[in-house]
Amino acid sequence: MTEPGTVLITGPTRNLGRHAVLAMAGRPAHQRPDLLLVGRSGRDLTAVADEARALGARVHEIGCDLSRLADVRAAAAATRTLLAEGAVRPLRALVANAGAMSVDTRQASADGYELTFAVNYLAHAQLIGDLRGSFTAPARVVLIGSNTYHANVWRKLLHVPAAEWADPVDLARPATGDQAPGMTASGVAYSNAKLAILYYAHELQRRAGEGVTVSVFEPGWMPGTALGRGAPKAFQAMSRALGRFPGVSTPQRSGPLLAAMALDERWAHLRDGAFVVKTKLTEVQPVAHDRDREQRLWDATTELLAPTTGT
Ligand SMILES: NC(=O)c1ccc[n+]([C@@H]2O[C@H](COP(=O)([O-])OP(=O)(O)OC[C@H]3O[C@@H](n4cnc5c(N)ncnc54)[C@H](OP(=O)(O)O)[C@@H]3O)[C@@H](O)[C@H]2O)c1
Repeated sequence: MTEPGTVLITGPTRNLGRHAVLAMAGRPAHQRPDLLLVGRSGRDLTAVADEARALGARVHEIGCDLSRLADVRAAAAATRTLLAEGAVRPLRALVANAGAMSVDTRQASADGYELTFAVNYLAHAQLIGDLRGSFTAPARVVLIGSNTYHANVWRKLLHVPAAEWADPVDLARPATGDQAPGMTASGVAYSNAKLAILYYAHELQRRAGEGVTVSVFEPGWMPGTALGRGAPKAFQAMSRALGRFPGVSTPQRSGPLLAAMALDERWAHLRDGAFVVKTKLTEVQPVAHDRDREQRLWDATTELLAPTTGT
């Protein structure tokens, strides 16, 4: 078994990310990685770091607001410094877990990009791009997808919209107007960001160094997490109620499954953006494989990440 080295995870402060952190920290010493927790500074970040330390892990907190690309670049630089100083073991996995669903698609990140696209996708593309030379093979990049990128009967019944792809520069542009575009637009933006993650995963694998593999994890539906925190109260209550349905997941159940994606021998063969839904390797829909869109997303991302605004 490969020595577990260091795992960097974003969004460790609550729900899926927090339970993945605790699952990794709670492993026996020979399987327990050092942990770099990349999240907004404050009580929640310190609390999860302390919990992980109490379980025996070596932990570093790296304060970072993913809606500010300058913060993301600084987080990557801090990671490189810790690795160079030998303060942590070699970087073996990066888990791009943080996510957000802005309820008003007019909201912009510090860099002027639509907030959902900025946090879920652009921030992680920046972080991973800045750390591409810092992995020690064999290493894994685990991205977090969502089945909402395509529609099915259940999602249609629940009014969860599928992606509506457009040029990435347009996806990154906040909506305009006096009135908030509404929950459907917010859901489409979220699904677009998650489809972008699938396209990015495929392109990243083509460009990743030898021994760096890319996979995508879908944790299953976990109603009641903070993802919909800005949604109308009735919407949040409905979501919590649906959480009691059998088959629906929870962060407590899916967090350890995410930890397994980063660490377990079982998943060592995954590459090319292989999509795992909880524990099941799953073929993505044909729409999620598109060489032209993948190439265009890569090029547009390079333009969008050029440090010209808000930094
Ligand atoms: N919930 C579901 O049903 C579901 C289904 C499929 C996929 N997913 C995906 O699973 C992942 C985790 O979701 P969750 O349900 O656990 O969501 P959550 O409870 O909202 O947790 C999201 C995490 O992302 C962090 N985050 C959000 N915006 C950030 C920012 N600007 N800077 C730094 N960190 C930020 C949050 O940090 P703070 O504590 O600072 O806010 C939190 O740690 C996401 O990628 C989500 O898209 C969720």
